Amino acid sequence: MKYLIDPMDLTTQEVRGILQLAHEIMEDPKKYAHKCEGKKLATLFFEPSTRTRLSFEAAMLELGGSVIGFSSADSSSAAKGENVADTVRVVQCYADIIVMRHPKEGSAKAAAMNLEIPFINAGDGGHQHPTQTLTDLLSIESIKGRLDHLSIGLCGDLMFGRTVHSLIRAMMRYQDIKFTLISPEELHLPNYLLKEMKQNGVPYVETRQLEGAIDNLDILYMTRVQKERFFNEADYLRLRDSCILDSKKLSSARPDMIILHPLPRVNEIPNEIDKDPRACYFKQVLYGKYVRMALILTMLGESEC
Ligand code: NCD
Repeated sequence: MKYLIDPMDLTTQEVRGILQLAHEIMEDPKKYAHKCEGKKLATLFFEPSTRTRLSFEAAMLELGGSVIGFSSADSSSAAKGENVADTVRVVQCYADIIVMRHPKEGSAKAAAMNLEIPFINAGDGGHQHPTQTLTDLLSIESIKGRLDHLSIGLCGDLMFGRTVHSLIRAMMRYQDIKFTLISPEELHLPNYLLKEMKQNGVPYVETRQLEGAIDNLDILYMTRVQKERFFNEADYLRLRDSCILDSKKLSSARPDMIILHPLPRVNEIPNEIDKDPRACYFKQVLYGKYVRMALILTMLGESEC
Protein backbone atom coordinates (compact mmCIF):
# COMPACT_ATOMS: atom_id res chain seq x y z
CA MET A 1 0.00 0.00 0.00
CA LYS A 2 1.72 3.16 -1.21
CA TYR A 3 -0.67 5.90 -0.13
CA LEU A 4 -3.77 6.56 1.94
CA ILE A 5 -5.59 9.69 0.82
CA ASP A 6 -9.24 8.65 1.01
CA PRO A 7 -10.79 5.81 3.03
CA MET A 8 -11.73 4.15 -0.26
CA ASP A 9 -8.02 3.63 -0.99
CA LEU A 10 -8.32 0.71 1.43
CA THR A 11 -10.36 -2.36 0.52
CA THR A 12 -12.57 -3.75 3.29
CA GLN A 13 -10.09 -6.63 3.59
CA GLU A 14 -7.24 -4.18 4.10
CA VAL A 15 -9.27 -2.33 6.73
CA ARG A 16 -9.94 -5.68 8.43
CA GLY A 17 -6.21 -6.44 8.42
CA ILE A 18 -5.33 -3.07 9.99
CA LEU A 19 -8.02 -3.35 12.68
CA GLN A 20 -6.99 -6.93 13.44
CA LEU A 21 -3.36 -5.87 13.81
CA ALA A 22 -4.42 -2.94 16.04
CA HIS A 23 -6.28 -5.40 18.32
CA GLU A 24 -3.14 -7.57 18.49
CA ILE A 25 -0.94 -4.56 19.31
CA MET A 26 -3.35 -3.51 22.08
CA GLU A 27 -3.09 -6.97 23.60
CA ASP A 28 0.71 -7.12 23.56
CA PRO A 29 2.35 -3.79 22.66
CA LYS A 30 5.82 -4.95 23.77
CA LYS A 31 5.91 -7.46 20.93
CA TYR A 32 5.97 -4.55 18.48
CA ALA A 33 8.40 -2.28 20.34
CA HIS A 34 11.31 -2.81 17.90
CA LYS A 35 9.47 -3.38 14.63
CA CYS A 36 10.37 -0.01 13.14
CA GLU A 37 13.89 0.38 14.46
CA GLY A 38 15.96 2.41 12.01
CA LYS A 39 12.84 3.80 10.28
CA LYS A 40 11.81 7.45 10.21
CA LEU A 41 8.33 8.96 10.04
CA ALA A 42 8.00 12.55 8.81
CA THR A 43 5.01 14.57 10.04
CA LEU A 44 4.38 17.59 7.82
CA PHE A 45 1.62 19.66 9.40
CA PHE A 46 0.61 22.83 7.56
CA GLU A 47 -2.47 23.12 9.80
CA PRO A 48 -2.97 22.90 13.60
CA SER A 49 -3.23 19.49 15.22
CA THR A 50 -2.86 17.90 18.64
CA ARG A 51 -4.15 14.33 18.43
CA THR A 52 -3.36 13.38 14.87
CA ARG A 53 0.25 14.58 14.86
CA LEU A 54 1.10 13.45 18.37
CA SER A 55 -0.62 10.08 17.98
CA PHE A 56 1.36 9.41 14.79
CA GLU A 57 4.57 10.42 16.54
CA ALA A 58 3.76 8.37 19.66
CA ALA A 59 2.85 5.44 17.42
CA MET A 60 6.19 5.53 15.57
CA LEU A 61 8.17 5.96 18.80
CA GLU A 62 6.36 2.99 20.37
CA LEU A 63 7.35 0.92 17.35
CA GLY A 64 11.00 1.78 17.98
CA GLY A 65 11.27 4.21 15.06
CA SER A 66 12.01 7.92 15.08
CA VAL A 67 10.23 11.04 13.89
CA ILE A 68 11.08 14.29 12.13
CA GLY A 69 8.82 17.07 10.89
CA PHE A 70 7.20 20.44 11.44
CA SER A 71 3.94 21.50 13.04
CA SER A 72 3.11 24.72 11.21
CA ALA A 73 3.39 26.08 7.69
CA ASP A 74 5.34 29.13 8.98
CA SER A 75 8.26 26.95 10.02
CA SER A 76 8.53 25.21 6.63
CA SER A 77 9.55 26.47 3.19
CA ALA A 78 5.84 26.86 2.38
CA ALA A 79 6.36 30.30 3.93
CA LYS A 80 8.80 30.98 1.06
CA GLY A 81 6.30 29.81 -1.56
CA GLU A 82 7.31 26.17 -2.03
CA ASN A 83 4.48 23.89 -3.25
CA VAL A 84 3.56 20.69 -1.38
CA ALA A 85 4.67 18.39 -4.18
CA ASP A 86 8.21 19.79 -3.94
CA THR A 87 8.19 19.72 -0.13
CA VAL A 88 7.28 16.01 0.08
CA ARG A 89 9.69 15.13 -2.71
CA VAL A 90 12.47 16.64 -0.64
CA VAL A 91 11.31 15.03 2.60
CA GLN A 92 11.34 11.56 1.04
CA CYS A 93 15.13 11.83 0.98
CA TYR A 94 15.09 12.00 4.80
CA ALA A 95 12.22 9.68 5.82
CA ASP A 96 10.67 6.25 5.14
CA ILE A 97 7.03 7.32 5.42
CA ILE A 98 5.27 10.70 5.27
CA VAL A 99 2.16 11.96 7.07
CA MET A 100 0.81 15.31 5.89
CA ARG A 101 -2.00 17.66 6.91
CA HIS A 102 -2.81 20.65 4.75
CA PRO A 103 -5.65 23.22 4.64
CA LYS A 104 -6.30 22.77 0.90
CA GLU A 105 -8.69 20.09 -0.39
CA GLY A 106 -6.87 17.89 -2.88
CA SER A 107 -3.39 18.78 -1.57
CA ALA A 108 -2.79 15.21 -0.39
CA LYS A 109 -3.38 13.83 -3.85
CA ALA A 110 -1.09 16.41 -5.41
CA ALA A 111 1.62 15.67 -2.85
CA ALA A 112 1.49 11.89 -3.22
CA MET A 113 1.65 11.87 -7.01
CA ASN A 114 5.39 11.53 -7.56
CA LEU A 115 6.43 9.89 -4.32
CA GLU A 116 8.44 6.70 -3.95
CA ILE A 117 7.68 6.20 -0.24
CA PRO A 118 4.35 5.59 1.56
CA PHE A 119 2.23 8.71 2.12
CA ILE A 120 -0.68 9.26 4.52
CA ASN A 121 -3.23 12.07 4.34
CA ALA A 122 -3.80 13.40 7.87
CA GLY A 123 -6.53 15.78 6.68
CA ASP A 124 -6.83 17.88 3.51
CA GLY A 125 -9.01 20.91 4.15
CA GLY A 126 -12.71 20.08 4.45
CA HIS A 127 -12.27 16.98 2.31
CA GLN A 128 -11.09 13.70 3.90
CA HIS A 129 -9.37 12.41 7.06
CA PRO A 130 -8.90 8.64 6.58
CA THR A 131 -6.85 7.94 9.72
CA GLN A 132 -9.48 9.51 11.97
CA THR A 133 -11.84 7.09 10.27
CA LEU A 134 -9.61 4.12 11.10
CA THR A 135 -9.64 5.42 14.68
CA ASP A 136 -13.44 5.62 14.58
CA LEU A 137 -13.76 2.12 13.11
CA LEU A 138 -11.49 0.62 15.77
CA SER A 139 -13.45 2.48 18.48
CA ILE A 140 -16.80 1.29 17.13
CA GLU A 141 -15.66 -2.30 16.71
CA SER A 142 -14.02 -2.41 20.15
CA ILE A 143 -16.92 -0.81 22.02
CA LYS A 144 -19.97 -1.99 20.05
CA GLY A 145 -18.45 -5.29 18.91
CA ARG A 146 -19.42 -4.85 15.25
CA LEU A 147 -19.19 -2.60 12.21
CA ASP A 148 -22.50 -3.62 10.67
CA HIS A 149 -26.18 -3.30 11.66
CA LEU A 150 -25.72 0.18 13.10
CA SER A 151 -27.79 3.31 13.22
CA ILE A 152 -25.37 6.25 13.19
CA GLY A 153 -26.22 9.89 13.94
CA LEU A 154 -23.76 12.45 12.58
CA CYS A 155 -24.23 15.83 14.19
CA GLY A 156 -22.76 19.31 13.71
CA ASP A 157 -20.77 20.67 10.78
CA LEU A 158 -21.45 18.06 8.12
CA MET A 159 -20.49 20.47 5.34
CA PHE A 160 -16.86 21.07 6.32
CA GLY A 161 -16.25 18.19 8.76
CA ARG A 162 -13.76 15.97 6.94
CA THR A 163 -13.99 13.27 9.62
CA VAL A 164 -17.70 12.89 8.82
CA HIS A 165 -17.03 12.66 5.08
CA SER A 166 -14.46 9.91 5.56
CA LEU A 167 -16.55 8.02 8.11
CA ILE A 168 -19.58 7.93 5.80
CA ARG A 169 -17.51 6.57 2.92
CA ALA A 170 -15.96 3.89 5.10
CA MET A 171 -19.17 2.81 6.89
CA MET A 172 -21.26 2.72 3.71
CA ARG A 173 -19.51 -0.53 2.80
CA TYR A 174 -20.85 -2.49 5.79
CA GLN A 175 -24.24 -4.21 5.99
CA ASP A 176 -27.37 -2.53 7.31
CA ILE A 177 -25.95 0.92 8.10
CA LYS A 178 -28.40 3.81 8.51
CA PHE A 179 -27.40 7.44 8.86
CA THR A 180 -29.22 10.30 10.56
CA LEU A 181 -27.68 13.59 9.45
CA ILE A 182 -28.22 16.30 12.04
CA SER A 183 -27.13 19.84 11.10
CA PRO A 184 -28.44 23.30 10.32
CA GLU A 185 -29.43 23.74 6.66
CA GLU A 186 -26.26 25.77 5.86
CA LEU A 187 -24.00 23.01 7.17
CA HIS A 188 -25.70 20.05 5.50
CA LEU A 189 -23.68 17.17 4.08
CA PRO A 190 -22.17 17.98 0.65
CA ASN A 191 -24.34 16.83 -2.25
CA TYR A 192 -21.66 14.53 -3.66
CA LEU A 193 -21.86 12.41 -0.50
CA LEU A 194 -25.67 12.42 -0.46
CA LYS A 195 -25.50 11.18 -4.05
CA GLU A 196 -23.01 8.43 -3.14
CA MET A 197 -25.31 7.21 -0.39
CA LYS A 198 -28.26 7.13 -2.75
CA GLN A 199 -26.27 5.28 -5.42
CA ASN A 200 -25.19 2.70 -2.87
CA GLY A 201 -28.70 2.26 -1.48
CA VAL A 202 -27.66 3.47 1.98
CA PRO A 203 -30.66 4.87 3.89
CA TYR A 204 -30.36 8.30 5.49
CA VAL A 205 -32.57 11.01 6.91
CA GLU A 206 -31.68 14.67 7.27
CA THR A 207 -32.87 16.64 10.26
CA ARG A 208 -32.05 19.96 11.88
CA GLN A 209 -32.21 19.02 15.55
CA LEU A 210 -30.91 16.43 17.97
CA GLU A 211 -34.30 16.26 19.71
CA GLY A 212 -36.25 13.38 18.22
CA ALA A 213 -33.23 12.20 16.19
CA ILE A 214 -31.23 10.79 19.10
CA ASP A 215 -33.74 8.23 20.42
CA ASN A 216 -32.85 5.12 18.42
CA LEU A 217 -29.20 5.62 17.59
CA ASP A 218 -26.40 3.12 18.27
CA ILE A 219 -23.77 5.82 17.76
CA LEU A 220 -23.93 9.59 18.04
CA TYR A 221 -20.92 11.16 16.28
CA MET A 222 -20.61 14.79 17.36
CA THR A 223 -18.44 17.36 15.56
CA ARG A 224 -17.49 20.99 16.11
CA VAL A 225 -18.44 23.76 13.70
CA GLN A 226 -15.25 24.21 11.63
CA LYS A 227 -14.51 27.88 12.25
CA GLU A 228 -11.41 27.96 10.04
CA ARG A 229 -13.40 26.99 6.93
CA PHE A 230 -15.85 29.91 7.15
CA PHE A 231 -15.51 32.94 4.92
CA ASN A 232 -16.89 35.30 7.53
CA GLU A 233 -17.01 35.41 11.32
CA ALA A 234 -20.70 36.43 11.47
CA ASP A 235 -21.81 33.16 9.81
CA TYR A 236 -19.68 31.17 12.23
CA LEU A 237 -21.11 32.97 15.25
CA ARG A 238 -24.64 32.44 13.99
CA LEU A 239 -24.16 28.71 13.43
CA ARG A 240 -21.75 27.59 16.14
CA ASP A 241 -24.41 26.87 18.78
CA SER A 242 -26.85 25.12 16.49
CA CYS A 243 -26.16 21.54 17.60
CA ILE A 244 -25.35 21.17 21.27
CA LEU A 245 -25.75 17.95 23.21
CA ASP A 246 -26.96 18.34 26.80
CA SER A 247 -28.19 16.02 29.55
CA LYS A 248 -31.83 16.65 28.71
CA LYS A 249 -31.39 15.62 25.06
CA LEU A 250 -29.23 12.68 26.12
CA SER A 251 -31.94 11.43 28.47
CA SER A 252 -33.97 10.13 25.52
CA ALA A 253 -31.03 8.20 24.00
CA ARG A 254 -30.64 4.44 24.41
CA PRO A 255 -28.55 3.28 27.39
CA ASP A 256 -26.17 1.45 25.02
CA MET A 257 -25.72 4.33 22.58
CA ILE A 258 -22.14 5.58 22.42
CA ILE A 259 -21.04 9.18 21.90
CA LEU A 260 -17.97 9.68 19.71
CA HIS A 261 -16.23 12.94 18.75
CA PRO A 262 -12.96 13.29 16.81
CA LEU A 263 -12.06 16.21 19.12
CA PRO A 264 -11.26 19.02 19.68
CA ARG A 265 -14.66 19.95 21.07
CA VAL A 266 -15.63 23.56 21.52
CA ASN A 267 -19.08 23.88 23.07
CA GLU A 268 -21.06 21.11 21.39
CA ILE A 269 -20.55 18.69 24.30
CA PRO A 270 -20.57 20.32 27.74
CA ASN A 271 -18.15 18.83 30.32
CA GLU A 272 -21.06 17.47 32.39
CA ILE A 273 -21.59 14.79 29.70
CA ASP A 274 -18.04 13.40 30.15
CA LYS A 275 -19.01 11.31 33.18
CA ASP A 276 -21.91 9.64 31.37
CA PRO A 277 -20.85 6.04 30.59
CA ARG A 278 -21.96 6.58 26.99
CA ALA A 279 -19.27 9.26 26.45
CA CYS A 280 -16.46 7.43 24.64
CA TYR A 281 -14.53 10.29 23.00
CA PHE A 282 -11.49 10.13 25.27
CA LYS A 283 -11.26 6.35 24.88
CA GLN A 284 -11.44 6.97 21.13
CA VAL A 285 -8.21 9.01 21.35
CA LEU A 286 -6.26 6.00 22.61
CA TYR A 287 -7.61 3.76 19.86
CA GLY A 288 -6.19 6.37 17.46
CA LYS A 289 -2.64 5.64 18.56
CA TYR A 290 -2.97 1.87 18.21
CA VAL A 291 -4.62 2.01 14.82
CA ARG A 292 -1.88 4.33 13.57
CA MET A 293 0.74 1.86 14.83
CA ALA A 294 -1.02 -0.81 12.79
CA LEU A 295 -1.22 1.46 9.75
CA ILE A 296 2.48 2.40 9.87
CA LEU A 297 3.48 -1.27 10.17
CA THR A 298 1.21 -2.22 7.28
CA MET A 299 2.38 0.57 4.99
CA LEU A 300 6.05 -0.11 5.72
CA GLY A 301 5.48 -3.83 5.15
CA GLU A 302 6.60 -4.63 8.70
CA SER A 303 3.36 -6.13 9.93
CA GLU A 304 4.39 -9.82 9.87
CA CYS A 305 5.34 -11.22 13.25
C1 NCD B 1 -10.46 16.66 13.38
C2 NCD B 1 -9.84 17.27 12.14
O1 NCD B 1 -8.71 17.74 12.18
O2 NCD B 1 -10.53 17.22 11.13
N1 NCD B 1 -9.56 16.52 14.44
C3 NCD B 1 -8.80 15.40 14.54
O3 NCD B 1 -8.00 15.10 13.70
N2 NCD B 1 -9.01 14.60 15.59
C4 NCD B 1 -11.74 17.30 13.79
C5 NCD B 1 -11.77 18.79 13.99
O4 NCD B 1 -10.76 19.47 13.88
O5 NCD B 1 -12.86 19.27 14.29
